[in-house]
Amino acid sequence: MNDLGSIPDDTARNRTRRLLDDAAGVSEAARLIRKGSLVGFPTETVYGLGADATDATAVAGIFAAKARPSFNPLIAHVADLEAARREGVFDAAALRLAEAFWPGPLTLVLPVSPNGRVCDVARAGLPSVALRVPGNGTARDLLRQVDRPVAAPSANRSGRVSPTTADHVLADLDGRIAAVLDGGETAVGVESTVVSCLGGRVRLLRPGGITREALAERLGFDLPGSDPSPGGTALVAPGLLASHYAPRARVRLGAVAVETDETILLFGSRSPPGTDKARGRFNLSPAGDLTEAASRLFSALRHLDAIGADVIAVVPIPETGLGEAINDRLRRAAAPR
Ligand code: TXA
Ligand code: MG
Repeated sequence: MNDLGSIPDDTARNRTRRLLDDAAGVSEAARLIRKGSLVGFPTETVYGLGADATDATAVAGIFAAKARPSFNPLIAHVADLEAARREGVFDAAALRLAEAFWPGPLTLVLPVSPNGRVCDVARAGLPSVALRVPGNGTARDLLRQVDRPVAAPSANRSGRVSPTTADHVLADLDGRIAAVLDGGETAVGVESTVVSCLGGRVRLLRPGGITREALAERLGFDLPGSDPSPGGTALVAPGLLASHYAPRARVRLGAVAVETDETILLFGSRSPPGTDKARGRFNLSPAGDLTEAASRLFSALRHLDAIGADVIAVVPIPETGLGEAINDRLRRAAAPR
């Protein structure tokens, strides 16, 4: 056997390809999705693990690749409102939100339209469908070319930290998916806000990239739902497991001092006592800017894991604006596993 022959063909074929964010890369990603393969792709929030949402076998592959324990419903991504209206039934509130925030980090849960094409597996058999028009140019080019809804959860192993770069995707899924389209770092950094518009009620199911305040301003009323306290009523979206977004390290919230051997996740200019002795540190935003902090949150957790943190202590972060989504992710990262 020669050297080349000793490398099984499969090994080469099973590596995940990294596609460039150019015309050739996007059209190859679209071709792969249309033929039923799995492709990681950038959105403005986090990288998604995309499959043709009309193809039950392809969608089932998402759960296998992520090692997701149960068939949670997935978000179907589409290129524009027109495509979304073929899949879901919009009431006045849903239309108002879509017009205000799409393309962007908002997911709407709506009744399935009679001619909707998103398969049962992607909807977990529910009579509703979660729809989103992402705000990232590469994502929308891809969706236009696929020309079908694309089901995509975040492109990480189940329960782990969501990916905000193509390297993060490969760290979790190399060899398990066909390709990742490398569009660089994502801008928003936390997942989309999930709002349900079912039965004439508007409810916030998951805080995310569009703030509660922005939704209320557009709707003209405050949104009920999502009590974030531990054991609260926040877990109304199926698949919102308590433990999620978890780094390997244990996470300790509300830290006002750094204990022995801890690492510290900072926000703003103040450092709690013991910071100088911390085993590692990362400041989400020295300027105290919640938008910057959201965009760096998942990278920070991965970074502290990579330097071998046992415990990540986190200083208190304001609960306003994007702080609600940041604190939601941190609470899940800290939840018992
Ligand atoms: O920013 C994002 O939303 C990213 C990017 C890739 O678009 N996607 C994402 O997907 O975070 P995933 O699967 O991690 O989260 C989807 C959320 C889950 O909490 C799920 O329970 C909820 O949407 N969801 C999906 N379909 C639903 C439905 N029919 N009813 C209620 N909740 C639903
Ligand atoms: Mg996820």
